[in-house]
Amino acid sequence: MWKRPKGWIRKGEDSAWLAELDKSCFKKAWREESFSRLMKKSWFRAWTWHAEANSKASAFLVVEDLPDLFSILRVGVVPECQRQGIGKEMIDFLIQLARNEQVPNILLEVHECNLAAQHLYFASGFRQIHRKKGYYHDPSGNALVLIKAIS
Ligand SMILES: CC(C)(COP(=O)(O)OP(=O)(O)OC[C@H]1O[C@@H](n2cnc3c(N)ncnc32)[C@H](O)[C@@H]1OP(=O)(O)O)[C@@H](O)C(=O)NCCC(=O)NCCS
Repeated sequence: MWKRPKGWIRKGEDSAWLAELDKSCFKKAWREESFSRLMKKSWFRAWTWHAEANSKASAFLVVEDLPDLFSILRVGVVPECQRQGIGKEMIDFLIQLARNEQVPNILLEVHECNLAAQHLYFASGFRQIHRKKGYYHDPSGNALVLIKAIS
């Protein structure tokens, strides 16, 4: 388990918990079966964030671990814990992990209208490399493709 000043980050190994967190954070949530199916993939990695070592998770991060790339599939902080630096802590954790494992890039897609997430990513050093038109439905919109090169 990885300890930071604010909280604890541990491997996310429980599909039911990941699905519950996903439901709290996203309007269009993934079902538990999707998480359990994805968890069987060799590239799947997930973590949860806890205020105390044994407390319930308040945030989660799901990543596709590809050759030379971490691709963020999901990151969310439950609404009552947002704006407390937890999202930044999760992203900082992933950046540090990429450094440790010599993964040169982190990639993600974000809805053009999701300004909160964009602020977080740009503040963490991501830059836009592409825009996917009409990528999202409900709510519809374009996706910004962002990348961070790990130095
Ligand atoms: C996006 C999300 C993960 C951010 O997590 P968070 O813990 O609230 O973010 P932090 O408190 O670490 O904020 C870090 C920075 O992000 C920016 N930010 C976060 N929320 C913001 C908001 N609502 N409005 C504007 N900027 C915001 C700020 O720059 C902030 O730094 P500051 O507080 O020093 O100004 C969270 O809002 C969330 O779970 N949203 C729903 C799910 C989602 O949209 N996930 C991302 C999909 S791509």
